[in-house]
Amino acid sequence: MKFEFLNPTRIVFGAGSLSRLGEFASRYGKRALVVTGGGSIKRNGTFDRAIKSLKDAGVSVYECAGVEPNPRITSVRRGAETARQNGCDMVIAVGGGSVMDASKVMAAAALYDGDPWNMILHGQEKVHVPTEALPITTVPTLAATGSETNCGAVISNEETQEKSFMMTECLYPKVALLDPELTMSVPKDQTAYGVCDLITHVTEGYFNGTGNTPIQDRFAEGVILTAMEYGPKAIADGRDLDARTQVQWAASVALIGWVQSGAGSMGSPVHMIEHTVSAYHDITHATGLSIINPSWMRFAAKTNTSKFVQFAERIFGLPAKGPEDMECALSGIDRFEEFLKSIGCLTRFSELGIDGKLIGTYAKETLRIMHDDKGMLQARTPMSEADIVEVLKAAL
Ligand code: NZQ
Ligand code: ZN
Repeated sequence: MKFEFLNPTRIVFGAGSLSRLGEFASRYGKRALVVTGGGSIKRNGTFDRAIKSLKDAGVSVYECAGVEPNPRITSVRRGAETARQNGCDMVIAVGGGSVMDASKVMAAAALYDGDPWNMILHGQEKVHVPTEALPITTVPTLAATGSETNCGAVISNEETQEKSFMMTECLYPKVALLDPELTMSVPKDQTAYGVCDLITHVTEGYFNGTGNTPIQDRFAEGVILTAMEYGPKAIADGRDLDARTQVQWAASVALIGWVQSGAGSMGSPVHMIEHTVSAYHDITHATGLSIINPSWMRFAAKTNTSKFVQFAERIFGLPAKGPEDMECALSGIDRFEEFLKSIGCLTRFSELGIDGKLIGTYAKETLRIMHDDKGMLQARTPMSEADIVEVLKAAL
């Protein structure tokens, strides 16, 4: 096991943390670009509380509102321009993963003269990797992506029908204020998809790792079991603060880097494929995941059977005849898919009205954006175009 771990984000966790926003922001400057989404935080009072805390601390606010789910590069350009025009010295994201991702790229774009789309990996010859960004504070209002405590951002380009990511050290938020109370207004479907997203972040590392990583395996299993226990409670009663608290922490832990460190993860194929499908259909990120992940698992179990047997045994308590018991591995995947359905996630493209016509295009596009030196999609079992098509077809 060889690895290097860095996560410099200060985490301030707990109900009521929002009231400390001004205290932390004032450490980084006096003029904040506050980035928000389509209005949920204005309807539920979070926005007013955030602004009051900032103003009380002497921080002026310049807003970039209206960041859309599957945030677009056009919003990033708009936010960066607002930051520049007003001499903002920091960026504060108050919203879901879309708002946080857009904010991170705005923070780097504000200090970059070129087009921010150059920073998003989309198969271009020369990628601009920024080394500086305005200080970022994240205030997640939806537990899902883990964007609040990592250095990744996923952005869509509507014009070119591409959705892809950037990931670099200067995007780590300085502070993440994790206040689970802010997630109590998230509707049932988004709560369920958040649970699915966070579990998928963990399964990507778990099933694509090198193996023989007992500590990481148990971290991952702990996050999955916790999400499966508290997720349904948060869905049943959105005001259940204990459930919201555990789900928020699970979402952050899932992609903070810690669970994956040392697991030797060889890629996130389910995410890479989903991003391409999202680029064509503008679907909720985790709807795509809940459809693709079980299908990908059945594909991957053919070559990594023992890990799927371990998953079936430890997550669902299924009996196995031995480490290569394929029947047990597949039963574990079936049980996982049943769990997703039980919390209201869709698990077939047909349920979304997506037919198979563009499957070949999704596979080609995924590989164009992300591939190894043999032209395969990185994963523990690297995937060819035909493999991606097989997985997507099985999810129709
Ligand atoms: O825009 P508003 O009005 O705020 O409404 C949002 C949006 O409609 C709503 N919402 C958020 N907080 C709420 C709320 N509604 C009621 N009460 C609240 N407290 O939820 C809807 C979805 O929001 P969005 O931010 O799009 O969801 P999510 O957090 O799932 O983020 C998804 C985006 O993150 C990317 C995805 O690809 C997608 O673009 N990802 C980012 C990652 C990262 N940076 O690490 C990793 C992920 O794998 C993912 O790819
Ligand atoms: Zn995700």
